[in-house]
Amino acid sequence: MSEHVAVELANGVLSVALNRADKKNAITQAMYTALAEATERARTDDAVRVVLFRGEGDSFSAGNDIADFIAIGQQGGRQMADAPVFRFLRALADLDKPAVAAVRGRAVGIGLTLLVHCDLVVVAEDALLSAPFVNLALAPEAASSILLPMAIGHQRAYELFALGEPIDGRTALAWGLANRAVAADQVEATAAELAGKLAARAPNSLKKTKRLMRDAEALWAQMLREGEAFGSQLTSPEAMEAFMAFTQKRAPNFS
Ligand code: COA
Repeated sequence: MSEHVAVELANGVLSVALNRADKKNAITQAMYTALAEATERARTDDAVRVVLFRGEGDSFSAGNDIADFIAIGQQGGRQMADAPVFRFLRALADLDKPAVAAVRGRAVGIGLTLLVHCDLVVVAEDALLSAPFVNLALAPEAASSILLPMAIGHQRAYELFALGEPIDGRTALAWGLANRAVAADQVEATAAELAGKLAARAPNSLKKTKRLMRDAEALWAQMLREGEAFGSQLTSPEAMEAFMAFTQKRAPNFS
């Protein structure tokens, strides 16, 4: 269990909080393992009715830790499917209980693609959501290459992936990526209220409803396809240039 993921069960709601505020909740390998354990527990523990993903500090998540990307890339890339992130993705694909997200501040990369696995999403009006995979010379992950276009349409999803520019919470609501956009200081309370409502609903009915709405095996197959593209990009010179540019606080040069 990573100290950077805080898990707490109360009244049927399993709160899973990213807790690495000084790094904008960027997610390390150890954190993916903790997220996977929490999500697996959510599915199998009858005491858990709802999962609530949230972030401590001012941001939901800055996405995958870039230092980890560099380390994996320099090791010549490992089998992506063996990486802790894939254990988490498998658990997300298989999760048949309701998932709620409370998003304030930045939601980058998997911080955004996690949201298309959540059933109710509450964002701050001034939150900034982005999926800058192409800016990092990577590829979409978490089955977002099918779930995001399904949610918001091809052109909007493509723009998010390819231009990597953030949209705010109001836009996320207008595009159908969120259920509610509220003032930042209302996000936690609104998400907790929605999670509480779901926790009181008939659990088997909720499970069957979610299973009918999502094909877990198809999502997993797409995650593996994406993993091949992502994994080969991760070890590419263009990705290394993008990661180095981030750590050196400069713009990347892909010429
Ligand atoms: N991986 C590792 N460290 C990260 C990180 C990431 N994904 N995102 C932020 N951090 C670190 C910064 O390096 C900085 O560390 P430092 O204080 O030791 O210098 C700290 O978190 C705060 O980030 P900073 O960039 O100063 O905050 P900001 O408010 O100016 O910008 C972001 C916030 C999220 C816009 C910016 O940090 C960012 O673009 N991060 C990278 C996001 C990304 O591309 N993720 C991968 C997606 S696949």
